[in-house]
Amino acid sequence: MPLFIENHYLVHTMYTLLEAQNLVERHINTLSVPDTPPELYEPVKYILSLGGKRIRPALVILACDLFAGAVESALLPAMGIEIFHNFTLLHDDIMDRSERRRGHPTVHIKYNENVAILSGDVMSILASRLMNHAPGVVRNVVHDVFTHTAMQVCEGQQMDMNFEELLTVTEDEYLTMIELKTAVLIAASLKIGAILGGASQRDAEDLYEFGRYLGLAFQLQDDLLDTYGDSEVMGKNQGTDIVDNKKTFLMIQALEAASLAQKEELCEWLKRKEFDRGEKIKAVTAIFDTLKIKELAENRIQDYYRHALTNLENLNRPEERKTELFNFASFLMNRNR
Ligand code: IPE
Ligand code: IPE
Ligand code: MG
Ligand code: MG
Ligand code: MG
Repeated sequence: MPLFIENHYLVHTMYTLLEAQNLVERHINTLSVPDTPPELYEPVKYILSLGGKRIRPALVILACDLFAGAVESALLPAMGIEIFHNFTLLHDDIMDRSERRRGHPTVHIKYNENVAILSGDVMSILASRLMNHAPGVVRNVVHDVFTHTAMQVCEGQQMDMNFEELLTVTEDEYLTMIELKTAVLIAASLKIGAILGGASQRDAEDLYEFGRYLGLAFQLQDDLLDTYGDSEVMGKNQGTDIVDNKKTFLMIQALEAASLAQKEELCEWLKRKEFDRGEKIKAVTAIFDTLKIKELAENRIQDYYRHALTNLENLNRPEERKTELFNFASFLMNRNR
């Protein structure tokens, strides 16, 4: 981070991951969100006040810092990315019928669905406005990466919804879906940070690839945690993917590896209209356990993680400047929320 030394020269040491996250947290809390009508803006303040890992804006900052020290120019676009992400959560929680997020009631539960829709809408517009605060020379390209990515996220979310209704989804279809709904925003955060830091097109693309693999690993982990994580630590209810018939990595692998009898049982759960949530979660998890799906997912997460690291290793920047991104990747891989 920038600091003054005795003779008043400004020197620049790079932001650590924690410093980047703290910087984001401080600025999120001072962001001026209007007060009226409160029905529209209170939920915005509510969701933003509940924390979250802030990984996407931290990536914008760290990527910018990888090329230049001018992270001030990255701050508002970084906020924009985080607000866009929070908008997707508001709508995602309606679509997934999720009642808890970040340890608190979701917006559509605490307020109501119409509120969650409109507050989400205004957040997506606010995000776009914040992206426009990128410096003039790169404003258009930053905004373009952002809007392109935002459309892809919606496409991925629609695929995720379509898959709820299907009994068979291939692994390739699943990978396309998670690339769109999750990985591209993580990748774009890095690319936007790099552009703001003055990176070449080539370096920005290389960093995007690192983020794309990291993002794929991230969503596989999210799938794993939904079934096997600690609900208290995650701040979300456990087993919602199973209840919602989500075609997660776990479900796809289980359907693939299942014996005839196990497949019949899984399909029976997928088709059943009336059921006890706890009973369904328990029965499906038991099949996952027998088939060692957890281990399969953990291995695949490691594969994507290693792919991501190779991309970072090959990136044309001095080793010492990459340290924080390596730290970031390892922080993500060891997460339990
Ligand atoms: C949750 O994202 C939604 C997914 C893309 C899996 P995060 O796990 O980054 O959520 P917060 O922001 O830390 O709460
Ligand atoms: C979320 O995927 C992806 C987006 C919000 C775009 P999930 O639906 O798995 O995320 P969680 O588990 O609810 O956080
Ligand atoms: Mg979802
Ligand atoms: Mg969800
Ligand atoms: Mg999930």
